[in-house]
Formats: sequence, structure tokens, C-alpha cells
Amino acid sequence: MLPAELIRFKQIGRSITVLTAWDSLSSAMVEAAGADVVLVGDSLGMVILGHATTLPVTLEQMLHHTQAVGRGFSKPPNKQPLVVCDLPFLSYQCGEEKAVAAAGSLLKNSCAAAVKIEGAEPETLSVIERLVRMGIPVMGHLGLTPQSVHSLGYRRQAEDQESQKKLLAQSQQIEQAGCFGLVLEHVPEEVASHHKNKLKIPVIGIGAGNDCDGQVRVTADLLGLSSKQPPFSQPLIPGRQLCIEALQNWVQQQHLQAANPTKEPSE
Ligand code: KIV
Repeated sequence: MLPAELIRFKQIGRSITVLTAWDSLSSAMVEAAGADVVLVGDSLGMVILGHATTLPVTLEQMLHHTQAVGRGFSKPPNKQPLVVCDLPFLSYQCGEEKAVAAAGSLLKNSCAAAVKIEGAEPETLSVIERLVRMGIPVMGHLGLTPQSVHSLGYRRQAEDQESQKKLLAQSQQIEQAGCFGLVLEHVPEEVASHHKNKLKIPVIGIGAGNDCDGQVRVTADLLGLSSKQPPFSQPLIPGRQLCIEALQNWVQQQHLQAANPTKEPSE
């Protein structure tokens, strides 16, 4: 699927589903679940690599994980989900040349067909325009932008009228710069809903209420695997607890079996 197809989905009112994946195990599940888009998000730095923020994630790590994601797909290429890869911190903030090289290397060496970039500062808008001109599709990301944690924190964004006005202006600039979609994270529901009505590109929400063109979730959060669950992303199952219990049962069985070696194993 071409990234621009998501704009058509918005036009015909078809909702868009985006799930993150970080390796072949998770991408196989997300593909089987039927998600439209697989996001190799730099949240993998926190969820999978154990960092406190997304800032330490490198371009090499994003490439490594995106290649693994590609190896997990089993459908023919034209039936696979669209893969969007996050450009990590400092891979696009140091100028257009560096950004083109970073994004280009992801598209050249992995299954990624688009990149995602946080923010809408003038320099970031220039980077988006340049990438789009070079044939590299870009998804924007506004609201809570984890790469700016040291200036914005992890709190809900656009709470007052002034910041809501600024956010809408930034979203419109992102659309004009050529992004094919916008992730809007942790903003009030009515703000996301207003964006949905004002923008031609799809608004993909997380912690932004239900009135968006689509939703994105961190798969480990949805499965309840993360040790620190974000307040706006409820788990569907207590995956972490279920896994721990299953593994505990196995460990205990091994001890019982060692104590009674003549008994048949129950697995
Ligand atoms: O890195 C990520 O997983 C993301 C989602 C939270 C949208 O950017």
C-alpha cells in the first residue's frame, strides 16, 4: 500500500489502524491481526531496550529493528502492511542533508516505505519538504512528542486555547509541507476532533479520543506487556502477568519433575 492511500481512506471514511512492531515476532502478529500500518516506533528504546526515554535510540538500531520487522511478514509484499519507521533523535535535527541520508538509508536497506518525524519547527518543516521532494514519504507527529521530553515532559498537550491554536497552525503547516498523515498524541479529544475536520491528511490518534481518522497503539502496551503502562493506553489483556504465570508454572514443573523423575511430564 502506498502511503497516500491513507488519504483516500480518510476521504471514504475508512478508519486506519496502526500498531507498532520491533522484531519479527511482533510484526508477524501485527500483520496477522490485519493492521494497515506497522510503525517501527522509537518507543522501542523504552519498551524493548529498557531506556528511560527515546533519546538514546540510534539510526543503526532503528535499521536493525526494521529489518527484523520485515523478516516477520508472511504475506506477499503487495498485501503486507505499510511500514513507517521513526527517525530517531538527532537523525533529522542537524540539517536537511543528514536527514535525507538517514531516511534514505532506512528506505534503501529495510522494508520501511516512509518515515515519521516529530515536531513542526521551521527547520523540521524544511526537512519534511526536502524529504517529500526526494520521494521519501513522511508522517508527522505532534502533541506529546517524546523526543522533546526535556522541554515538554510526558504530560497532556494543548490544554489551553493559545496552545490549541498553535497546534492547529503547526498541523496545517505539516500538511502543506507534504506529510501524508499526522500522529496526534495525548491531546484533548475535542482538539483531535477539530484537527480531523480541518485537515485533509488523516489524523491518527493516541490518547486523543475516538474521533480521529485512525488510531495508533504501542503493541506491547495493548498486550499489557510493558512494565510502565501509559495512562492513555489501556491494555487489552494482562499479558505480562499471564506470561510470568506461565513461565512460573514451567519452572515449578521442572523442579517437581526433577524430584519425581519417573512421572510423565505434563507438557
Ligand atoms: O514511537 C512510537 O511508538 C510512537 C507512537 C507512540 C505513536 O511514536
